[in-house]
Amino acid sequence: MDNKKIIELLQEMTLAEKIGQLSQTTGEHYVGKIDSEMVETGPGFPAHMLEGNTLYTIGSIIGVSSAKITNLIQSEYLQKSRLKIPLLFMHDAIHGYRTIFPIPLGLSCTWDERIVQQVAEDTASELRATGIHVNFSPMVDLVRDSRWGRVMESFGEDHLLSGQLGRAMIRGYQKGEDGRIAESGVAACLKHFAAYGAGIGGKDYNTVDMSWREFYACYGKPYEIALQEKPRFVMSSFNTFNGVPVSASEQMMKDILRDDYQFKDIVISDWGAVAELQNHRVAGNGKEAAELALKAGIDIEMVSTLYLEHFEHIVQENPELLQDIDAAVLKILQLKNELGLFENPYVDEAVEHEVILNSSFQEHTKEAAKRSCVLLKNEQMLPIRQDCKKIIIVGPFADNNQLLGNWQCKGSFEDVVTLAEGMKRVDDSFDLDVYESLEDCPQATLEQCDYIVVAVGEDWQLSGEGHSSVNIELVADQQQLIRDVKQTNKPYACVFFSGRPLALQNIIDDIPALLWCWYPGTQAGRAIAELLTGQDTPSGKLTMSFPRHSAQAPIYYNEYSTGRPANESSYSSRYQDCEAGPLFPFGHGLTYTGAQYSDFQISSHHLAADQQLTISFQVSNPSEYDYSEIAILYIEDLVSKAVRPIREMKKYQVVDVPAHQTVAVQMTLALEDLQYLDASLQPSIEPGKFHIYINDLDRPVFTIEYR
Ligand code: IFM
Repeated sequence: MDNKKIIELLQEMTLAEKIGQLSQTTGEHYVGKIDSEMVETGPGFPAHMLEGNTLYTIGSIIGVSSAKITNLIQSEYLQKSRLKIPLLFMHDAIHGYRTIFPIPLGLSCTWDERIVQQVAEDTASELRATGIHVNFSPMVDLVRDSRWGRVMESFGEDHLLSGQLGRAMIRGYQKGEDGRIAESGVAACLKHFAAYGAGIGGKDYNTVDMSWREFYACYGKPYEIALQEKPRFVMSSFNTFNGVPVSASEQMMKDILRDDYQFKDIVISDWGAVAELQNHRVAGNGKEAAELALKAGIDIEMVSTLYLEHFEHIVQENPELLQDIDAAVLKILQLKNELGLFENPYVDEAVEHEVILNSSFQEHTKEAAKRSCVLLKNEQMLPIRQDCKKIIIVGPFADNNQLLGNWQCKGSFEDVVTLAEGMKRVDDSFDLDVYESLEDCPQATLEQCDYIVVAVGEDWQLSGEGHSSVNIELVADQQQLIRDVKQTNKPYACVFFSGRPLALQNIIDDIPALLWCWYPGTQAGRAIAELLTGQDTPSGKLTMSFPRHSAQAPIYYNEYSTGRPANESSYSSRYQDCEAGPLFPFGHGLTYTGAQYSDFQISSHHLAADQQLTISFQVSNPSEYDYSEIAILYIEDLVSKAVRPIREMKKYQVVDVPAHQTVAVQMTLALEDLQYLDASLQPSIEPGKFHIYINDLDRPVFTIEYR
């Protein structure tokens, strides 16, 4: 349909029909609740507004899956709606729809935009084949506190990496050029604007309070970067920011999102966030809440019904707001038109059948899972030696298919390859014994075994939305299992599953080799088995620091310099009952043989305003494995007028290095890479020296001078 017709359609709409387009509800109102195909991702609301004709003015539906059900709802809706404007369907396929990929925090440990984009492309294909048009992903909220359950959905603690991986994901979902949505693509929804990851104490939905400098330099950056990829939606966050709930903040939603970051498309609230303005006590009733959200520029209200209840009245009192309503409705109609819904609002169930769980997606998720695992420690215990054939796998995750992580969308545990199954598949000469606990294992089996794999971690339901924890240690009985295995004097390694960095100081000395697998998704067992047996090498690097102790969170690599840096003295910035620094830092991750970095060169040791420096080095791979080495460049400004982070990551590169080969790497640094935001939020730099680090946060490779 051409745009002229869309504008005519808008003119034909009654105010009630326009308000309907700005309201989102669940599918059950049309066809009843179908548990297997409808998920509720928030608390229910009284739905008295959703009766009669109103139901057939609604613009979009959340949380419904399968072609059969989206078609059913669409057809029921279109039959009864006056103008027959098709519904948009939106869902949370955070790391896959039916084929489940590693959780985003795991994906980020690949540092590889190609992998993240591929994951998003496959997810979009599955979504679109089932009639879903918008995905509430990516989440690029910066995170530093692993007590927050939603760190699993993030890309970690660095703003540059989070922003770039967010961009890759948006590219993969939408598939079109310049923000367009291709035939098998879906609209991406960047979330949660803004700073939702900074809730005080790591408690979900909690207050956020920070300086504008911290916002523009850090927490705002991932959104700013990802927005360059033109996602079609942005979701406003639940939290307050410096005293104002973001979903009612004209400053955040208009001045920053729309003016500073130039976002032009549709803003949707989070689930019930408009109604929650009353709980924040910035609105005395539903009408005030609706008006605040509308004025802040929230185009669509998710699930609560205050727009439906109050907009007519609000517009009578403020006729100038009709303009904002029309502008919002027009964007929604244009998106529906771009998706071709006016011509064909339905999907073909036979196509859905072909696309879902496609075999290429299984290979992609296996590859992504392998690359997201991080080898945190290895006292020459991995890979499992080839002559070790009698292997015991023990622990709650030994043969457990619950490896999808939270936000598993339509993922089915039945599809999951468990660790034990993966080991069987990877080498059929293995003589495997699998137990949930060591007590189940006969003494004779234990004595005869060559090797023990201990599979432990955190239940998937303990991370994700609404799952913050004060205690992020491994539970006591699993710690005991590791100690018991140690007592056997057999060689062993530990495989951990979790949605967050855990605090391992109590147990780390009893672990000789530690492979961190996050929740790897549908092909978990195949991926891990290939790594354990040395068919491939782990190569992921951490994107979130691991605290030693629960109470050490938040902990992150780019903290500011203090007047009393941590040292042995009690007058220094540290906890006295815990070793300073993380157990495993950002950027840490081993491979089986280790890349060698050499021949560091720099084009000049001086940088002037209009120049750039080229830093080059060689990465050699002495191993049998073709793998991707992650090279990371950090800077340290030795003296600046305003305090800066101790280290700042400025560049990274995923370098594909074939076995026994050496690859030349180049990175450039320009003035803007050295600048920082001063107290008046202006990019600033003073003449002086900078250290440059490659991967090793303690030993600079160059000192350069800006003058
Ligand atoms: O997309 C999510 C959001 O991340 C948290 N609240 C519910 C939304 C819709 O499911």
